[in-house]
Amino acid sequence: MAKMEVKTSLLDDMIGVGDMVLLEPLDEDSFINNLKKRFDHNEVYTYIGSVVISINPYRSLPIYTPEKVEEYRNRNFYELSPHIFALSDEAYRSLRDQDKDQCILITGESGAGKTEASKLVMSYVAAVCGKGAEVNQVKEQLLQSNPVLEAFGNAKTVRNDNSSRFGKYMDIEFDFKGDPLGGVISNYLLEKSRVVKQPRGERNFHIFYQILSGASEDFLCKLKLEQDFSRYNYLGLDSAKVNGVDDAANFRTVRNAMQIVGFMDHETQSVFEVVAAVLKLGNIEFKPESRVNGLDESKIKDKNELKEICELTGIDQSVLERAFSFRTVEAKQEKVSTTLNVAQAYYARDALAKNLYSRLFSWLVTRINESIKAQTKVRKKVMGVLDIYGFEIFEDNSFEQFIINYCNEKLQQIFIELTLKEEQEEYIREGIEWTHIEYFNNAIICDLIENNQTGILAMLDEECLRPGTVTDDTFLEKLNQVCATHQHFESRMSKCSRFLNDTTLPHSCFRIQHYAGKVMYQVEGFVDKNNDLLYRDLSQAMWKANHSLIKALFPEGNPAKINLKRPPTAGSQFKASVATLMKNLQTKNPNYIRCIKPNDKKAAHVFNDALVCHQIRYLGLLENVRVRRAGYAFRQAYEPCLERYKMLCKQTWPHWRGPARAGVEVLFNELEIPEEEFSFGRSKIFIRNPRTLFKLEDLRKQRLEDLATLIEKIYRGWKCRTRFLLMKKSQIVIASWYRRYAQQKKYQKIKSSAIIVQSYIRGWKARKLLRELKHQRRCNEAATIIAAYWHGTQARSELRRLKEEARNKHAIAVIWAFWLGYKVRREYRKFFRANAGRKIYEFTLQRLIQKYFLEMKNKMPSLSPIDKNWPARPYLFLDSTHKELKRIFHLWRCKKYRDQFTDQQKLIYEEKLEASELFKDKKALYPASVGQPFQGAYLEISKNPKYKKLKDAVDEKIIIAEVVNKINRANGKATSRIFLLTKNNVLLADQKSGNIKSEVPLGDVIKVSMSSQNDGFFAVHLKEGSGAAGKGDFLLSSDHLIEMATKLYRTTLSQTKQKLNIEISDEFLVQFRQDKVCVKFIQGSQKNGNIPTCKRKNNRLLEVAVP
Ligand SMILES: Nc1ncnc2c1ncn2[C@@H]1O[C@H](COP(=O)(O)OP(=O)(O)OP(=O)(O)O)[C@@H](O)[C@H]1O
Ligand SMILES: [Mg+2]
Repeated sequence: MAKMEVKTSLLDDMIGVGDMVLLEPLDEDSFINNLKKRFDHNEVYTYIGSVVISINPYRSLPIYTPEKVEEYRNRNFYELSPHIFALSDEAYRSLRDQDKDQCILITGESGAGKTEASKLVMSYVAAVCGKGAEVNQVKEQLLQSNPVLEAFGNAKTVRNDNSSRFGKYMDIEFDFKGDPLGGVISNYLLEKSRVVKQPRGERNFHIFYQILSGASEDFLCKLKLEQDFSRYNYLGLDSAKVNGVDDAANFRTVRNAMQIVGFMDHETQSVFEVVAAVLKLGNIEFKPESRVNGLDESKIKDKNELKEICELTGIDQSVLERAFSFRTVEAKQEKVSTTLNVAQAYYARDALAKNLYSRLFSWLVTRINESIKAQTKVRKKVMGVLDIYGFEIFEDNSFEQFIINYCNEKLQQIFIELTLKEEQEEYIREGIEWTHIEYFNNAIICDLIENNQTGILAMLDEECLRPGTVTDDTFLEKLNQVCATHQHFESRMSKCSRFLNDTTLPHSCFRIQHYAGKVMYQVEGFVDKNNDLLYRDLSQAMWKANHSLIKALFPEGNPAKINLKRPPTAGSQFKASVATLMKNLQTKNPNYIRCIKPNDKKAAHVFNDALVCHQIRYLGLLENVRVRRAGYAFRQAYEPCLERYKMLCKQTWPHWRGPARAGVEVLFNELEIPEEEFSFGRSKIFIRNPRTLFKLEDLRKQRLEDLATLIEKIYRGWKCRTRFLLMKKSQIVIASWYRRYAQQKKYQKIKSSAIIVQSYIRGWKARKLLRELKHQRRCNEAATIIAAYWHGTQARSELRRLKEEARNKHAIAVIWAFWLGYKVRREYRKFFRANAGRKIYEFTLQRLIQKYFLEMKNKMPSLSPIDKNWPARPYLFLDSTHKELKRIFHLWRCKKYRDQFTDQQKLIYEEKLEASELFKDKKALYPASVGQPFQGAYLEISKNPKYKKLKDAVDEKIIIAEVVNKINRANGKATSRIFLLTKNNVLLADQKSGNIKSEVPLGDVIKVSMSSQNDGFFAVHLKEGSGAAGKGDFLLSSDHLIEMATKLYRTTLSQTKQKLNIEISDEFLVQFRQDKVCVKFIQGSQKNGNIPTCKRKNNRLLEVAVP
């Protein structure tokens, strides 16, 4: 084994050898050791050339991840370590790129991992082929068909917890791009006997357990089922639960898969109804009942189950009940009805259950096919995946095992045909030097079973069709007669058995030495199972069911289609379908996966050398390696070979004119392939080493890329050229259009210029004409004007003349009047005195004046000087007189009014007059003072004893004695003072004590200031430097301001002969000691009634708010 460590660059980092072809030395031990070593290192795949040996690891390995898929994608077969993905990739690529239909043949005994392998192949292909919504749906449907079929067609056996109990061949169809289009599934003989009976330690089909564990209570109730497995006779109880299998979860998976595949809800419902009916059929029991004629008749024990089945399936209860009790045989238009005994009734029941279930299974396959069928009619490329039930040896082997093993024999046959026999024969045929390698050819066993005359199946059919009593024993007898001499057949009676010491072979059995080992078959049941009889009464009862699915499952029950011919036996049907399958497989390029089971315990990490050795032997793997090693890895007819690689050599590319073989020779010489690497056969080239092929492929790939670049280059050139030509053509078109357009534009411009010039000329002409016309018109007008002037002159002179005439006439009239007057006066002068006219005039005047005065006398107004009335003027000529009279009258009545005054009154009025002159229209306080008499001495100083002191201090006449308010400059508050005005002085005295506070000679008073508003504030300004001015001016307020100011003015005038300055202003300055303070009068609110308020604003401002 040390030598085994030598690794090729292709198979780097391999455990043992990845390809058995490289095994040295080549014998059984090293073969097994290599497998074991690899198995121990989790390398479950090993090659023999292009064949993949797969050992079931019985545990999940991390070698099927999407990353692995990517790793194997588009890689050469030998590039990476052996893997089922490498084979899948090879098959898919040669399907896609070389247009060769493929089939993947997965063989091995039960539990070796065929079904898993087939799923891995499908999932790999699904992962690497095209993508897109539609393609993904196809893929999903193809993949999801597996769980559905497994649920209905797989079961737990002693060899495999998920054993396929039917054969399945699936064609996946692709379009030219390698995108999946759909698929077709073919199924082969379901092991239906399992429905009614299962060997010890085995289970019925998964679906029964799944339904009971996974369906909701509601659903079960609808199906009239109960969860308890033990309620059903058809469910073997000893292994109802399988370790590591979750039936409930699987049920959900199956329902989901059915939905994805495209089952309608009502279809799914119908399917489960049939499953329920099958399960419940097992619970129908019969009891014997003796009849009068002595025969036994069966009766149903408890009709409840039957009733429920009928309700579920819509079958008439009485019809089904009768079908379980009677059997009608029709022969030559005669109907004979016989009763069934209990055994026959049970047989009928089981036959019905088996038929219902197996037909349901076939219907499922057909229904799935309908969904996954390719929708287009384009040519399809096909990849077939064959996963058939594996070779099996049980304790009790019956018809089913016989059929299954036969099928496996056929597959082994095809493997031998294609890999061992065909290959060796081909070398000889092609004239290649070759030493024959011995191998076991199982054709002889196939012949034992399927030979048309002497084959076991033919014998069985013959026995079934033979009239007379036919039993399994008669069949065995027949076998003993015919096959006795066959090397691979043994029975107690056969020739071979004579020398046999094996007494364990019972009488009712025969043994076949299959390629994979000896199997002993119990002959019991062979005839029945081959006949596959279902009483016509039952099929008719089913056809009558008010359940579309069941009705469709039993078309032969239709009385209108009664066929008296026997249907083909199960054996012959199977033989035919296997033959078709083999034919089909032979048209495709085979890819082999040979599954090996490492142990019988379904255990991981256990490698049973003996078991593996046995499988290696019967599978002929060692021979396979030998043939492979001695032979050539690859061969191809000259034509396709040259066609494929001709681009690698100048002489052969693009066309080789001579014979293809010569072309290939030239090609190989040119490529300098060493001579020992290939051989020329008669019609094919043989390549020894895959590496050479891969080299060729790589070169081809490279060259194709170059060619693609070349094509691309030429195409791009062509594209650019065409584009250029197109653009050139377009350019010409555009240019011509543009020129046309430009010319049109130019023409339009010239045209419009011509029109402009033309219009100018026309304009000029027209203006000239207009000028002429205007001149003409002016001439005409001038004539008219001249004429008008002329007429005017004439008219005026006429008018003048007429006026002159009129004046003359008037003068004449005047002269005439004067003349007339003169004449009249001269005539009448003698009757009048010379001055009479004047006298009359004066008289009239006097009379009028007299009248005026007399009327005026009566109309005289009152003597009140304020009366404004005066009579209206009667004559205009007396206007001035009337006005003068009015004036005189007013003066007179005023004089009259004045004359009645006393001296005192006169004085008062003088004062009032003075006040009016001083304040009228200047001070708002004035109008209120007009009506008040000026009293002067408001305080009676002399009479009030309180003021005696004051009276004594003042010896002059007091003109004013009144209480005034003196304004304090510090705060604007007032203090009462007595104000005295005498002939020479102004005095201020304390009101309470009468003490004189200040005394100012009138000569020192220079000015009195007051506001124009309705307040009594006034300031008495003193001459600067005078003795009294030390304290500054007085700011006082009094209710009798007008009177006081007037009297002060008059007194000052009379004493000093100087007019006292009275200033009326709303803002004036008052001297207080050293400072001058501004007194400002503003319009204040009426808050304090009508009393003005004085406020000190700051050091230099006193503000008096007058309401
Ligand atoms: N590649 C694998 N990886 C992990 N487990 C596997 C693998 N192949 C097979 N097994 C396990 O072996 C069991 C049996 O495999 P499978 O059902 O494929 O056998 P089979 O050859 O189809 O048998 P049968 O002929 O009875 O149908 C599977 O249920 C699975 O547990
Ligand atoms: Mg299987």
